[in-house]
This record gives sequence, C-alpha cells and structure tokens, in this order.
Amino acid sequence: MRTLLSVDRRRYLFPAALASLLFIGSLKIILENIKTIHLTDAFFWPQRTEHRVVRRPITVSDDETIERSCNIFQGKWVWDNQSHPLYTEESCPLLVKQVTCQKNGRPDSSYQNWKWQPDGCNLPRFNALKLLEILRDKRLMFVGDSVQRSMFDSMVCLVQSVIPEGKRSLQKVPPRKIFRAEEYNASIEFYWAPFLVESISDHATNHTVMKRLVRLDSISNHSKQWEGVDILVYESYVWWMYKPTINATYGNLDNVQEYNVTTAYRLAMETWAKWIESSISSHVQKVFFMTMSPTHLWNWEWKKGDGGNCFGESQPIQRPYWGTGSNLDIMGIVKDVLGQLRVNVRLLNITQLSEYRKDGHTSVYGERKGKLLTKEQQSDPKNYADCIHWCLPGVPDTWNEILYAVLLQDYRKF
Ligand SMILES: *[C@@H]1O[C@H](CO)[C@@H](O)[C@H](O)[C@H]1NC(C)=O
Ligand SMILES: *[C@@H]1O[C@H](CO)[C@@H](O)[C@H](O)[C@H]1NC(C)=O
Ligand SMILES: *[C@@H]1O[C@H](CO)[C@@H](O)[C@H](O)[C@H]1NC(C)=O
Ligand SMILES: *[C@@H]1O[C@H](CO)[C@@H](O)[C@H](O)[C@H]1NC(C)=O
Ligand SMILES: *[C@@H]1O[C@H](CO)[C@@H](O)[C@H](O)[C@H]1NC(C)=O
Ligand SMILES: *[C@@H]1O[C@H](CO)[C@@H](O)[C@H](O)[C@H]1NC(C)=O
Ligand SMILES: *[C@@H]1O[C@H](CO)[C@@H](O)[C@H](O)[C@H]1NC(C)=O
Repeated sequence: MRTLLSVDRRRYLFPAALASLLFIGSLKIILENIKTIHLTDAFFWPQRTEHRVVRRPITVSDDETIERSCNIFQGKWVWDNQSHPLYTEESCPLLVKQVTCQKNGRPDSSYQNWKWQPDGCNLPRFNALKLLEILRDKRLMFVGDSVQRSMFDSMVCLVQSVIPEGKRSLQKVPPRKIFRAEEYNASIEFYWAPFLVESISDHATNHTVMKRLVRLDSISNHSKQWEGVDILVYESYVWWMYKPTINATYGNLDNVQEYNVTTAYRLAMETWAKWIESSISSHVQKVFFMTMSPTHLWNWEWKKGDGGNCFGESQPIQRPYWGTGSNLDIMGIVKDVLGQLRVNVRLLNITQLSEYRKDGHTSVYGERKGKLLTKEQQSDPKNYADCIHWCLPGVPDTWNEILYAVLLQDYRKF
C-alpha cells in the first residue's frame, strides 16, 4: 500500500476539486429531475399516431464506408471550421447550462472547429436522418456517469434539429433520461450508473460523492433496466479514481473492505461481463464499451507548467501525448475483460484522441454545485477549473461521429 501511494500518488489523488466536480454532475441530475413529468407514462411507448411515416431506406455510399483495416482511433485533429461544429449552443435548446461554455463567458471558440481525421480513412459526415433510420423501432442507451451523460446530450443535439417540434420529447425518469423521436419510434437514453455495478452513488437524485461504497458483485438493480435494449454504450472510470483504494463489498454486505482500485475495477468489470454473457443476444443487440475520458489537471504534463491546469488552453496538443490521468492498468483490465468475452462488445477507444484536447474542457465556464461560477470563482482557475467535463458542442460530438460511423457500417447486419 505504502509503495503504491508514494509511486502512483499523482495518478489517483486528483486535486480536492475532483470530488466537487463530480458533485456538479450529480447535482445537475437532481436539478433536472425536479422538472420531471409523467413519471409513470414514461415506461410505456406512446400510442402510435395515425400519421403514416414514410420509411427512407438508407444507402451507404462508398465515401461513407470505412475499411475494416482502418483504425479510426488513430489520427489527428485538423482545423475545419466549415464542417464543425455540427450544431451550435443556440440551435440545441436542450443543452444544459453546465456545458454551454460560450454562453457562460468563454472568450475563445476554436475548440468547436476541430475535426477528427483518422490516419487511414475518413469518417463519414454525420447524417441525423440516417442515424434515426438506423434507430427506427430501437433504443440506444448510454450507461455511465456524467461524462457519459455528455455523450448522450451530444447525441440528442446531433439529431434533434431534424425532428419537427411536437414529434420529439425529453423526459427525466431517474435514473434515466429519455429522448424520443416519435415518428421513428426511436429512443436515445441515458442511464446513471457511475460504477456500472451497484453502489451507494446510484440514486440519481441523492447520493454522496466523498463516501463511496461499491457492491462489486451486484448489478441486477441496473441490469434489469438494460434488458432488451438494442444498442448499449457503457463507460465507467472517473468515479473509481478518487483514491488508490475504494471501499467495497463482495458477497456479504456487512463485510466492507478497502480494495486496491485496480482489483475492484476488475471484479466489477467481471460482474458486468457475466451479465453481458448471460443476457445479450449478439445477433439482435449491439454493445459498445467506451474507454476512459481523459482529464487535464496539470499543465506541466504538456508544457513548462506554472502549476495550472486546462484553464486558458485554446489549442489541441499536436504531438504524441498521453497524460497521467489516463490509467494504463485500467485500460489493461478493459482489454482483458473484453478479450475474454464470448459476446461481441466493441471498444470505442476514445482515450488517445481525447487526450490531445486539453482545450475542450468546461474549465471555469461551467457550474459548481448547480450554479454557474461567480466572477470571483472564475478568476481562481486553480481551485475552480473543471478539467474533467467537456464543453458542447465539442469533443463528445466526435465520440458520437465515431459511433455513427460504426453503426452505419453495420446497418445491413441489423
Ligand atoms: C494494486 O494493483 C496494482 C495493479 O495490479 C499492483 O501493481 C499493486 O501492487 C496493487 N497494490 C496493492 C496494495 O495490492
Ligand atoms: C475559418 O478559418 C479560417 C482559417 O483560420 C479563417 O480565415 C476564417 O475566417 C474562418 N471562418 C470562419 C467563418 O470563422
Ligand atoms: C417501438 O420500439 C419498441 C422499442 O424498441 C419496440 O419494442 C416496438 O416493437 C416498436 N413498435 C413498433 C410498432 O414497431
Ligand atoms: C437494489 O434493489 C433492492 C430492492 O429494491 C434494494 O433493497 C437495494 O438496496 C438495491 N441496491 C442498491 C445498491 O441500491
Ligand atoms: C438523501 O439521503 C440521505 C441518506 O440516505 C437522507 O438522510 C436524506 O434525507 C436524503 N435527502 C433527500 C433530499 O432525499
Ligand atoms: C472506507 O471506510 C472507512 C469507514 O467509513 C473510512 O474510514 C475510510 O476512509 C474509507 N476508505 C476509503 C478509501 O474511502
Ligand atoms: C486504446 O488505444 C491505446 C492507444 O491509443 C492503446 O494503448 C490501448 O491499449 C487501447 N486500449 C485497448 C483496450 O485496446
């Protein structure tokens, strides 16, 4: 334990700010939930309307096709202010205040104009109508923490503008948020499960951040709500990384022990994998696992730092880079567990491409404890910058462009 602490201290001990940053994310859910309406209705599909929807068979053209040999996660960011951003803060009224960095006073906007360019191929241009056609009569669900929620928010923004008002809805049904495109009988959902397995942080509207207790062998409270979902996208990382050890149980709930985080993460992933194997039918369902979203908490990692963080960064890193916030042991566990699965779970390995984007975080242009930062707090970035969450439009849009590329590729196999 002692050696782990002294050697790996940096990798685990985020600044004290981390805990409250996570809290921002959770509180956001609390605030949003107050507005929840039609709680029970939401578990049922709305009646089909009389209105007949014309199906538009989708065609996948050659320039939308990615060769199997192309590693879409390897490449570089290129400036492209013609095609990006794919939407704006104004055009997506559903965006939460936590991510609208422009509205919150961020002076630079070039973080919105970068396009991910894989080395060996091009990503197809995002087409919301095609995506909705792929999702016809289906549910797409993102499962994880507040970082994963931003991927959900991004996806909703990417598609909502092509759906007429009155034919789309956003509901909060804790621990889910559900966006529906009525004419397609399609839903895009978010499910709050920051550790994937059960924990005392699962209550979407009331959970502690500083005290964590994870049930490494229990997942059924969550998984019963994942059953039958057509496309599942999982993510879980930053909540594990607060300290080198984490309190958890395995079996007997009275036997709480401090586990090495890597040991606990592996046990939790194995519990998740067991459920995947027993419940997923590969021929009708698709499962994705998203690797860790990087943090940019110490600027000495990419420049002669002054003890600062991501605050003030307005350009991506344009050279090989991997920060200490992305834990290689955790990456190895993900690789092992997915490698041993008999069910096909596809990896969305977004860590490296996001590592370059030290400019993409909300920094001081977000919220803390449900409130936008005050001028005084904004002038104290060392204590108040959020270098975990991302502005939208921004980096999570690219994660979705990649997910779209893969789904489009598979379309005929549905
Ligand atoms: C924790 O796990 C890591 C990775 O497997 C290992 O290197 C380390 O020695 C473990 N520490 C303890 C205290 O078990
Ligand atoms: C796009 O970027 C180019 C090159 O930096 C710049 O000259 C141009 O003004 C930009 N266009 C817009 C609309 O921002
Ligand atoms: C609507 O979508 C749901 C969920 O994917 C599906 O179970 C149902 O069969 C669909 N309804 C119709 C009329 O196709
Ligand atoms: C799981 O659900 C059961 C029954 O609703 C409940 O008693 C238990 O506390 C839940 N577990 C967690 C970790 O929330
Ligand atoms: C939140 O949970 C704590 C501990 O379970 C409980 O004491 C408190 O009353 C809850 N608060 C609300 C607003 O539900
Ligand atoms: C585990 O729980 C004990 C008792 O509540 C607490 O003293 C300890 O700090 C916790 N450990 C971690 C790593 O949070
Ligand atoms: C993800 O990509 C990185 C390099 O970009 C690689 O080091 C890592 O092993 C990959 N992760 C998995 C689980 O394959």
